[in-house]
Amino acid sequence: MRKTLLTLAMATLTLPAVADETQMTESARQTAMQLIKQLGGELQKQMSSGGPESAISVCREKAPAIASEMSRSTGWRVTRVSLKIRNPLLGTPDEWEQGALKILERRLAEGAKPETLEFAQVVEEPAGKVYRYIKALPVQPVCTTCHGSAESIPEGVKARLAAEYPHDKATGYSPGMIRGGISIKRPL
Ligand code: HEC
Repeated sequence: MRKTLLTLAMATLTLPAVADETQMTESARQTAMQLIKQLGGELQKQMSSGGPESAISVCREKAPAIASEMSRSTGWRVTRVSLKIRNPLLGTPDEWEQGALKILERRLAEGAKPETLEFAQVVEEPAGKVYRYIKALPVQPVCTTCHGSAESIPEGVKARLAAEYPHDKATGYSPGMIRGGISIKRPL
């Protein structure tokens, strides 16, 4: 009898936790998708109104600004990270993000669709438990103007990139690959 009660108590204790994680993943996914959508929209708009050189500011200023705004409104840390970075100050993944991005790359190589790739985990950190989530950033045709092969990047853009990012590793991408991920970290 006592054992049954204990088992029941444990079951009720663990069930909400599982539901919570599903819920956290759902809201993290929504947030990441919103960033991807907003960034894509801004890029398209600026590319057609001002051309590729002027659109550099979208990936440089708008994207981190949207991410910071999302961090402020949610209380989570929202960032863009990549294994091959252009700006090491902003885009460098931490250890967990590196591991997670490699998992996404492996799943992609195994045939998963880039837009479905995500990975979430509750992690114990020195400051306490955190929920971590990453959603793949698929390479769309528009991205190749600045992240594609040498032939797909216009000369003017190439010159700007060479001048501003001497250690640029974020080229050579084509649609179907992933450029990196939207990383979300939420204290528990
Ligand atoms: C008009 C040029 C341009 C286009 C188009 C563009 N980017 Fe970028 N991207 C940049 C620049 C410049 C940076 C460096 C920004 C900085 O200084 O933080 C960058 C940085 C990034 C980063 C941050 C990590 C890093 O490498 O520093 C990600 C992620 C990224 N871009 C993804 C994308 C995706 C996905 C697309 C297509 C939807 C895209 N970009 C389209 C110019 C572009």
